[in-house]
Amino acid sequence: MTLLLWLSSWNNISVLGIFLTVFTILVDFMKRRKNWSRYPPGPVSLPFVGTMPFVNYNNPHLSFEKFRKKFGNIFSLQNCWTNVVVLNGYKTVKEALVNKSEDFADRPYLPIYEHLGYGHKSEGVIIARYGRAWKELRKFSLTTLRNFGMGKKSLEERVSEEAGFLCSAISSEGDRPFNPRILVNNAICNVICNITYGERFDYGDETFKKLLTLFENSLHEEVGFLPQLLNVVPILLRIPGLPQKIFRCQKEYINFVEKLVYMHKKTWNPAYTRDFTDAFLKEMAKGKEAEENGFNKSNLTLVTSDLLVAGSETTSTTLRWALLFMLLYPEIQSKVHKEIDKVIGRNRPPTMADQVNMPYTNAVIHEVQRCGDIVPMGVPHMTYRDTELQGFFIPKGTTIITNLTSVLKDETVWKKPKEFYPEHFLNENGQFVRPEAFLPFSAGRRACLGEQLAKMELFIFFTTLMQKFTFVIPEGQPRPREDSYFAFTNSPHPYQLRAVPR
Ligand code: HEM
Ligand SMILES: *[C@@H]1O[C@H](CO)[C@@H](O)[C@H](O)[C@H]1NC(C)=O
Ligand SMILES: *[C@@H]1O[C@H](CO)[C@@H](O)[C@H](O)[C@H]1NC(C)=O
Ligand SMILES: *[C@@H]1O[C@H](CO)[C@@H](O)[C@H](O)[C@H]1NC(C)=O
Ligand SMILES: *[C@@H]1O[C@H](CO)[C@@H](O)[C@H](O)[C@H]1NC(C)=O
Ligand SMILES: *[C@@H]1O[C@H](CO)[C@@H](O)[C@H](O)[C@H]1NC(C)=O
Repeated sequence: MTLLLWLSSWNNISVLGIFLTVFTILVDFMKRRKNWSRYPPGPVSLPFVGTMPFVNYNNPHLSFEKFRKKFGNIFSLQNCWTNVVVLNGYKTVKEALVNKSEDFADRPYLPIYEHLGYGHKSEGVIIARYGRAWKELRKFSLTTLRNFGMGKKSLEERVSEEAGFLCSAISSEGDRPFNPRILVNNAICNVICNITYGERFDYGDETFKKLLTLFENSLHEEVGFLPQLLNVVPILLRIPGLPQKIFRCQKEYINFVEKLVYMHKKTWNPAYTRDFTDAFLKEMAKGKEAEENGFNKSNLTLVTSDLLVAGSETTSTTLRWALLFMLLYPEIQSKVHKEIDKVIGRNRPPTMADQVNMPYTNAVIHEVQRCGDIVPMGVPHMTYRDTELQGFFIPKGTTIITNLTSVLKDETVWKKPKEFYPEHFLNENGQFVRPEAFLPFSAGRRACLGEQLAKMELFIFFTTLMQKFTFVIPEGQPRPREDSYFAFTNSPHPYQLRAVPR
């Protein structure tokens, strides 16, 4: 009797177990099923994990290279239950981002940022879903940046002044070899801080050093397998203490920004707009309608933090690439020097008006951006509606990775894709030309919002530095590496240089 009871209850449990297993497998199957014909090909998707085991998340480009060879320019992946399509090559990326701009204008929802205050209601600009609030905030950000000419000091003057500070800091290094990273980061970060918060930090300021370290570590926190997994299986973020532990620096960083905004508000005078934050506060004060359009407190922190995140590391890394290429190619450096001497001379600071007269320098800066390839995988997009691309069907809600490396180094477009060759941007008469495949800022509706500012910074900083110094590899040091390391951005490996006054 007891035996029978025992058997039947065991039976019940096992039946339940079998039922649950079948049910989960079925759900998994349904979730991963792609019952569309003409969906882009890709590696086989395994139960629950999809194609994630096939990707090396610390060096994703290596895995992606293999897939591209096997499946072509448009291929699909599956991160657990999230469909991902990767686009390669100038033609494909341009068709998606420009010709089908709206179809590809959305962003995937990224739960790993929730603990920073991002959510369905407050999204800032970068990761905001495509819609009215994003449009308003983007428009506002663009016009505000553009209108800074109206303030007491124009954007250009602010940039120029900071470039002067950077030169002094470099001068005081004297003969010593040094790594330019911290000084350059300092200067670039100051420009954005000044524009958004009216702040500027002295080089060597302790708070500032801390901010820069947080910045760098924040980027590292996003690389690797775990963040990818958390984005597609957000329930894991509910594990108590987990987000705080793995995203510690990001959290500290956002607290820092909140403090800046708070201190700033205390000194606000509606009659006088000092900076971006003031302009936002003014908009907020307009009342209900503005608030509905996204102008409210939580968004202020996120939008300004977005500008800082997007505008600092990218621009300073580009400038570090520029100095590195000058070390590696002294003959190119000396051509730049000659052009500066001819057009600007040694005394007056460079201005944006000089740019049209300096095709070679301009070409060098563009080539730095092309070779440096700072944002190799762009920022993820998401399809806003069902769409088609080169005969493939891509459903609404698919995460899209635009491979900008494959555009900037597209063999069908560039003469010497893998080399540093400023002539890519010059015609036979030595005039500046800009090939259409130059897309370091991406393209379409979501293209970089800071493109104008970044270009101004690169031109002013680069020419100011080159006017004052010759950069050389310190005696007895090996030739710096030309390849990059990847942590969301492509950065040069640490290197040392010596700045010889001209
Ligand atoms: C050399 C410097 C820079 C590079 C290479 C760069 C590159 C990019 C790229 C590739 C994107 C993604 C576009 C896409 O999703 O298709 C982007 C977006 C963005 N960038 Fe930049 N950027 C630079 C500087 C800046 C600066 C200085 C700012 C700020 C003032 C800025 C603000 C933004 C913002 C707000 C977005 C998000 C736009 C949106 O989603 O609507 N960037 N940038
Ligand atoms: C992008 O394209 C380059 C060049 O084809 C390739 O090496 C890299 O692996 C690709 N990256 C991605 C994310 O597809
Ligand atoms: C994209 O649009 C441009 C201009 O409208 C057109 O010339 C080009 O053929 C289009 N490309 C594709 C692939 O549809
Ligand atoms: C911001 O930049 C402007 C122009 O360079 C400068 O006059 C102002 O002092 C800076 N603001 C702060 C707080 O440093
Ligand atoms: C913040 O802006 C986003 C768009 O970026 C918008 O969807 C959201 O409603 C805004 N949040 C608040 C609290 O106003
Ligand atoms: C922000 O906007 C939301 C909804 O749009 C509103 O409920 C909230 O009170 C606003 N917060 C502030 C601080 O204005």
